[in-house]
Amino acid sequence: MRESADDRAEVQRHDGPSIGTLIERRLSRRSLLKGAVAATAIATLPLPRALRAAEEGAVPDPGFTEITHGLDDDSHVAPGYRQQVLIRWGDPVLSDAPAFDPSAQTAASQSAQFGYNNDFIAFMPLPRGSASADHGLLCVNHEYTNGHLMFPGYGEDDFAGAASSEELKVEMAAHGMSVVEIRRDPAAGWAVVRGPLNRRITALDTAMRIAGPAAGHPRLQTTADPDGMTVIGMINNCAGGVTPWGTVLTCEENTNFYFAGDVSAESERANHARMGVGGGSAYGWHRIDTRFDVAREPHEPNRFGWVVEIDPYDPESTPVKRTALGRFKHEGATTVVNSDGRVVVYSGDDGRFEYVYKFVTNGVFDPNEREANRDLLDDGTLYAARFAADGLVHWLALVWGQGPLTPGNGFGSQADVLIEARRAADLLGATPMDRPEDIETNPVTGSVYVVLTNNTKRKSDQIDAANPRAENRWGHVLEIIPTMRDDGADHAGAEARWDVFLLAGDPRNSGIGALYHPDVSENGWLSCPDNCTFDTKGNLWLATDGAPKTAGFADGLYACATVGEGRALTRLFFRSPVGAEVCGPCFTPDDTALFVAVQHPGDTEGSTFAAPATGWPDFTEGMPPRPSVVAITRNGGGAVGG
Ligand code: FEO
Ligand code: CA
Ligand code: CA
Repeated sequence: MRESADDRAEVQRHDGPSIGTLIERRLSRRSLLKGAVAATAIATLPLPRALRAAEEGAVPDPGFTEITHGLDDDSHVAPGYRQQVLIRWGDPVLSDAPAFDPSAQTAASQSAQFGYNNDFIAFMPLPRGSASADHGLLCVNHEYTNGHLMFPGYGEDDFAGAASSEELKVEMAAHGMSVVEIRRDPAAGWAVVRGPLNRRITALDTAMRIAGPAAGHPRLQTTADPDGMTVIGMINNCAGGVTPWGTVLTCEENTNFYFAGDVSAESERANHARMGVGGGSAYGWHRIDTRFDVAREPHEPNRFGWVVEIDPYDPESTPVKRTALGRFKHEGATTVVNSDGRVVVYSGDDGRFEYVYKFVTNGVFDPNEREANRDLLDDGTLYAARFAADGLVHWLALVWGQGPLTPGNGFGSQADVLIEARRAADLLGATPMDRPEDIETNPVTGSVYVVLTNNTKRKSDQIDAANPRAENRWGHVLEIIPTMRDDGADHAGAEARWDVFLLAGDPRNSGIGALYHPDVSENGWLSCPDNCTFDTKGNLWLATDGAPKTAGFADGLYACATVGEGRALTRLFFRSPVGAEVCGPCFTPDDTALFVAVQHPGDTEGSTFAAPATGWPDFTEGMPPRPSVVAITRNGGGAVGG
């Protein structure tokens, strides 16, 4: 989603050494940057090495010919690759879905068709448990809607107030997730199958169970749900993850934008302010559903902002909001099975000066009995990260009764800690970051990559070692290196090491302190990294969101190695059409297909349904731009980037 405006203006301060002291400590420990020029504002910062010596297990560079930066109405992929629009907004998902008619959409038709603004993508092999790369379920988040691009007759600023009831219901039905069976034909490529597992999950009518420590808590009770156990729908689901037992985790992000009205309940005022609720609705749904009026239903916002677990292999299953993982603007939920069998879930909170979190289950993953893992995510410990200048990450436990998380600070139970996870992390002294977006683990090295998209509000006296640039328009990527034990990486531990992987922006502009491999080309540098994934060789694929605004060229997908000679040598592989961001990069298990979600194509200032900035992907008269999933394969076969 495009940059939000609700982030806190103030950064909480933490007791401890001054920034200068921290920098000195870090300087004494680390070598200075090579091959990049530090900005004036950070000239004294001890930026880590641009290159490491070749390390054991070095991976090859992703193999493709880089494309050029640019900004036009079409998508572009590296030569030798095929891009195929697999499914578009409005395409039929369910067997009884009508054909898409953009001039006559109804809530019923949209509820059976592919939703809007595709973001996270999971490829779930069929049959379940296999490593099939030719047949599977594509699970795709539909984060939000752009009403003025979906319906004729509106501008960006008048849709929410003027849209008809049916149009607002279409929007609600265009949110959520699509589960779509897909199959690859050797000659024709990928195609959608309207099979029995296909499903639409929406914000309009999909009932979800609330589970974990906050389930049933009075602060989750509403007029429609006095038990606080069931909520209709999920909203603003951005990135996500896949569990080892074959379910999908989908994350609610900017949920505050859906609530109108003044916060009437005194007890919820600070909580709602901390999440940005109360700034007005961008959607107008309160006009047809009173639960989106926070003056009437002050607890309704507390029922959003969670990680939702969905079993795509059972179309009758009830999605579950897992409250043990905390409530914030979740961006991604990447799972790792720890060396001791516990499951660790990493998640970012996408707001300026917000935090990086991980959740560690108490129970262990059972690879032999799927049902035994069913409620693993209801019981465990949530942590927030403090990135210390000495290169250590300290994971701070959000446990009721410990440290400041007591009734004296307004926390009456673990449910309160989870509902107000941000405030709990404030009190623990977590490190305020530059908008944490996706987090992924390198399957080869075990290191964890934290993508920070940007933070233009960070002042020079607010920089720290992990967020080293003031007015950071470009974003950066950190890596967390878990402690290695005899039996593997320890993702569950209270400490890890961290490093800077890259600092985005143009490395030729000496004023901004960008940091990459020194050989990054004029087309290989990037701005505003957001989603990421790894191929099986351990190459990092980074998608961007916001480059047109900050850098003047289209958002794209870049790839690089993370160790060895090609470390941080990012190169441009795919470029989106104007107005779009690239989301959800996802490989098949054998890397032979890469799916990307092109979100909000044509979303530029002044662009409308009638006069869009691009007609991608149809380029047909009367057809608005359509968010779509693109399947990318290599001509002649073989691994993408192989
Ligand atoms: Fe929905 Fe943080 O991007
Ligand atoms: Ca984003
Ligand atoms: Ca995102």
